[in-house]
Amino acid sequence: MIMTSKMYHNLEKLLVAALCLLCAWIPATDGQYLIGVGSYDMTGPAADVNMMGYANIEQNTAGVHFRLRARTFIVAENPQGPRFAFVNLDAGMASQLVNIKVLERLNSRFGNLYTQENVAISGIHTHAGPGGYLQYLVYSVTSLGFVQQSFDAIVNAIEQSIVLAHNNLKPGLIFINKGEVHNAGINRSPSAYLLNPADERAQYPTNIDTQMTLLKFVDGGSGKSIGAFSWFATHGTSMSKDNKLISGDNKGAAARFFEDWFASTGKSSSSPLTNSTSPSTLVKKAQTIKATGGKPCDKTTSQGFKVRKNDGSLFVGAFCQSNVGDVTPNVLGAFCIDSGKPCDFNHSSCHGNDLLCVGRGPGYPDEILSTKIIGERQFKTAVDLFSSATEELTGKIDYRHVYLNFTDIEVELDGNKTVKTCPAALGPGFAAGTTDGPGAFGFQQGDTEISKVWKKVRDMLKEPSQYQVDCQKPKAVLLSTGEMFEPYAWAPAILPIQILRLGKLIILSVPGEFTTMAGRRLREAIMQALISNGNGEFDDKTQIVIAGLTNTYSQYVATVEEYEQQRYEAASTLYGPHTLSAYIQEFQKLAKAMARGEKNSSRGPSPPDLTSVQLRLLQGPFGDSPPNGVNLGDIKQDVTLPKCGSFKKGDRPSATFWSANPRYDLLTEGTFAGVELLQGERWTPVYDDDDFSLYFKWKTDNVTFHGLAIIEWEIPEEANSGVYRLRHFGSSKKATNSTTQYFTGASSAFAVS
Ligand SMILES: *[C@@H]1O[C@H](CO)[C@@H](O)[C@H](O)[C@H]1NC(C)=O
Ligand SMILES: *[C@@H]1O[C@H](CO)[C@@H](O)[C@H](O)[C@H]1NC(C)=O
Ligand SMILES: *[C@@H]1O[C@H](CO)[C@@H](O)[C@H](O)[C@H]1NC(C)=O
Ligand SMILES: *[C@@H]1O[C@H](CO)[C@@H](O)[C@H](O)[C@H]1NC(C)=O
Ligand SMILES: *[C@@H]1O[C@H](CO)[C@@H](O)[C@H](O)[C@H]1NC(C)=O
Ligand SMILES: *[C@@H]1O[C@H](CO)[C@@H](O)[C@H](O)[C@H]1NC(C)=O
Ligand SMILES: *[C@@H]1O[C@H](CO)[C@@H](O)[C@H](O)[C@H]1NC(C)=O
Repeated sequence: MIMTSKMYHNLEKLLVAALCLLCAWIPATDGQYLIGVGSYDMTGPAADVNMMGYANIEQNTAGVHFRLRARTFIVAENPQGPRFAFVNLDAGMASQLVNIKVLERLNSRFGNLYTQENVAISGIHTHAGPGGYLQYLVYSVTSLGFVQQSFDAIVNAIEQSIVLAHNNLKPGLIFINKGEVHNAGINRSPSAYLLNPADERAQYPTNIDTQMTLLKFVDGGSGKSIGAFSWFATHGTSMSKDNKLISGDNKGAAARFFEDWFASTGKSSSSPLTNSTSPSTLVKKAQTIKATGGKPCDKTTSQGFKVRKNDGSLFVGAFCQSNVGDVTPNVLGAFCIDSGKPCDFNHSSCHGNDLLCVGRGPGYPDEILSTKIIGERQFKTAVDLFSSATEELTGKIDYRHVYLNFTDIEVELDGNKTVKTCPAALGPGFAAGTTDGPGAFGFQQGDTEISKVWKKVRDMLKEPSQYQVDCQKPKAVLLSTGEMFEPYAWAPAILPIQILRLGKLIILSVPGEFTTMAGRRLREAIMQALISNGNGEFDDKTQIVIAGLTNTYSQYVATVEEYEQQRYEAASTLYGPHTLSAYIQEFQKLAKAMARGEKNSSRGPSPPDLTSVQLRLLQGPFGDSPPNGVNLGDIKQDVTLPKCGSFKKGDRPSATFWSANPRYDLLTEGTFAGVELLQGERWTPVYDDDDFSLYFKWKTDNVTFHGLAIIEWEIPEEANSGVYRLRHFGSSKKATNSTTQYFTGASSAFAVS
């Protein structure tokens, strides 16, 4: 018998109901937790803001492919017992300043319920979100400094998602499952990986981790699934450094697909939207409905048109990042764009030029298709794991956290040799970039020398100290960011490390991108530390996941052997060759303390709050008005009908509206774009700018400099035939100091059959 998803769903309900009958007469044991999930829109400014990730000065936002969200789960042993909150952020990475502000806000709402100790905020590593929300200078050079609007969108969304999860806390069950994700990543620095000892490599089947670990959250009362969080390592670089649409990249896409899949399993298969009217009738009907002119509306109008309204009860499906350092989603490999041949193995360049060597995703040359495919591969594994999860988590909730100054940590190697970490520095391999996004400065990955000319340029910024030069070897110091403090710190010195425990699951929050082998070493070391100090509480059934890019960002962590080659990941390993050893040593202390039930009396040095000294050079929009005789929201270019009169699946109807800069209002939990279906005489929203099939593109007219919004819909397979129209929502100000006005407009109707 083949189980349909609906049958499965019913069976699942039955099983969970049966389990809960048991819970009813088992006195509250450690088998039951309080759990809550929440999700909130964090899409930042969709125009003019540099995207975080590729450091490409030309890559500024110009629209939305799909929205970004903060997704949270909270688990507690009981109302008074230990709890923690884990936030999955559709951003490039976590930011220290974001954490500081979020914790301040949580403190004023909840007292000391949520603190640095028990809140983890982890970035998915999309390279297609607005930047300017990190406080160290290196990370805001291309965004022209700090961007308040990006920052506020992220802080608000995290706060709101935690509040929703907190308000949702109810008794429930948590299941854990793990499985393989196939062909969603390859190692982008295999030559560096090969430098790791042969006997160590022999313990693993491949040069990347292919395991996904998934948690499934089930409401104890209703037996309904309320969410799932999974961890798996692959870069958010399916979208290229030329993309200008805000996107959650492959993990954001996986989350959208997963949440929509879950929502559809609850619905009956005969959709109420089906319409069997003949194609010619649809065409005739469509012809009668012309574009509406732009009309004023309210601040919240677009929220009313949202297809997935966030009333706080949404199922939350999140795809979290892990030891992602050397894992690219561009799984076809990297090739020279001139010859089509594979690039140089050690340097990822083509006749000495790194710019020619570019990785290809499975949808090459279509990056949207690559994003979809890599997203689907993660989504499908997650559905399998979710649907077959039977192993219930039980046991303690616990956590440990400490801040460390990574500038000079003493590390004992092998018990008889002491080495030190160094102030942060970047090598030339950093400036070379990667095959996901090559750098434009003429460097190559693996460079350990810097030319005289570049040294002069460097020294004008800051000549590295001799101590630093020696400490970082064999990295050549291109930017001694840990020694640069003008006008404020270029790199972090204080980093948080954190261990969260949920029964037998251990989550290691790391503030950077560990390479595959670096992550394996950390997990192994912590497993040993837990087992040898845990008095039987931990064993080989203990599961350890690394949560990458969490709580702060400090670039990469490569193994000491990989560090020798100085490819991008090693050249971006900030604190010198022993960075990983320092992490392992300090994480072991936390693990030991946790296993023995000891608390650390020292929290370590607090990270600085650099809000007041941030450079803020990006200008806001100064006011927008439409050309004479035109209203904002009016059609500039209506949908062009195909010859046969109606569109079919896969076609791309589009319309251009006179509009204003989308930075006046981010339309949070609302939408800039919509597709409406005519039902009877009523228009029903069926797609919005959260959908993979709908694009909101923003630009200014190249002649008049007025704003234009292009709404483009790639009609998906599952769309029903019917009469549709495209819709735009926006806001404007006549001048910087005037009030925000809201408007909307619709295209002419068109038929899909
Ligand atoms: C890569 O570099 C290593 C070490 O220098 C060398 O042994 C190897 O031959 C190089 N491989 C290729 C394919 O160039
Ligand atoms: C980190 O340690 C270094 C070296 O001891 C010290 O100079 C620096 O001030 C510390 N950084 C911070 C932010 O405390
Ligand atoms: C100490 O150093 C020696 C020589 O460098 C080395 O062989 C040994 O494995 C190290 N570790 C211990 C625990 O002695
Ligand atoms: C406690 O914190 C101090 C200060 O940061 C740190 O050096 C030490 O390793 C920590 N100890 C444990 C057991 O976590
Ligand atoms: C189907 O389309 C026709 C023509 O547009 C319309 O009159 C009818 O109400 C539609 N039915 C549904 C269920 O939308
Ligand atoms: C404006 O853009 C259009 C379409 O891309 C192009 O054909 C035209 O040449 C451009 N005009 C100017 C003045 O750049
Ligand atoms: C708004 O700004 C304009 C131009 O800077 C100025 O002339 C006007 O007085 C301002 N209006 C208000 C209400 O502040």
